[in-house]
Amino acid sequence: HPMRAPDLKFCSRAEINFPKGPDVPYSCCPPRPDSLNNIPYYEPPPMTKLPARVRPAAHAVDEEYIAKYNLATSLMRDLDKDPTDPRGFKQQANVHCAYCNGAYLIDGKKLQVHQSWLFFPFHRWYLYFYERILGSLIECPTFALPYWNWDHPKGMRLPPMFDVPGSSIYDTRRNPHVRCGTIIDLGSFGEETKSTELQTMTNNLTHMYRQMITNAPCPLLFFGKPYPLGTDPSPGMGTIENIPHTPVHIWTGTVLGSKLENCDTSFGEDMGNFYSAGLDPVFYCHHGNVDRMWNEWKQIGGKRRDLIDKDWLDSEFFFYDENRTPWRVKVRDCLDSKKMGYDYAPMPTPWRNFKP
Ligand code: C2O
Repeated sequence: HPMRAPDLKFCSRAEINFPKGPDVPYSCCPPRPDSLNNIPYYEPPPMTKLPARVRPAAHAVDEEYIAKYNLATSLMRDLDKDPTDPRGFKQQANVHCAYCNGAYLIDGKKLQVHQSWLFFPFHRWYLYFYERILGSLIECPTFALPYWNWDHPKGMRLPPMFDVPGSSIYDTRRNPHVRCGTIIDLGSFGEETKSTELQTMTNNLTHMYRQMITNAPCPLLFFGKPYPLGTDPSPGMGTIENIPHTPVHIWTGTVLGSKLENCDTSFGEDMGNFYSAGLDPVFYCHHGNVDRMWNEWKQIGGKRRDLIDKDWLDSEFFFYDENRTPWRVKVRDCLDSKKMGYDYAPMPTPWRNFKP
């Protein structure tokens, strides 16, 4: 059976270390809609009526784009003053927490959308509504999120626009090494490496080749293990969720166990923990590129296509849109990003020629 959308009647406290580790409670349930009964199914508007949202590479945007994006994010932060508004910046970050830190109980099991085949479709729908909310706040229906182009040497560092202290897309809870243009190691889960920048970039292209081509010749290897209704969470990750998706989170967040500004001890905030990742605006930029890899992978050929298992296609999530309307969405309605009204500005993919 397909995974059901969570019923908010069964949302309760989350756990910062879910699913393992000492239990540290956290609350992140969304505001309740007026009626919990029969939340309708969302279908993207027909193609002809769609504004074309083209997501740009984050390192290549102009000043005008940066200004719009900052304005939209600060307006979203302002909405946090009303804790019943599901469009607020913290509310949106809490969406990730609720789906990933065990707040929802479905069919007697705690939900976790990571480490399974729900990873790609969940994040696609999540960004879809987040992007629409940002666009509506600046009355720009074509506004599109940027993508962190870490699969290209020019994008293998924190995109500079996110490193402007005081701006609405800055986050103080990052590892200091993300500043000053340090090159990211896409294969590292926290261990330090002593390679030159050139070696790191070359290794990164090799990682990309492996995860997109060698290790992901068929759907389940790319998407992750089956996770039908009533089964245990975290059955197993797909190639890209493992590397580079997870290393980018760990590299950006604070060092585990270090002291945070407010004197708490770090659980990897913000990017390095599910419950807090959405509090760093670069999260949505990182996931833009993860989502772009889904499109790229299908273009490589062979058996690289979407899954056809109904338990996947009919799995559901729950989100609020830019008008605070609650919707249920299905995996089958997010397989083609163009049909959803957005696409990615093309960038070369040099990893395709990096056979190890
Ligand atoms: Cu939902 Cu990148 O984590």
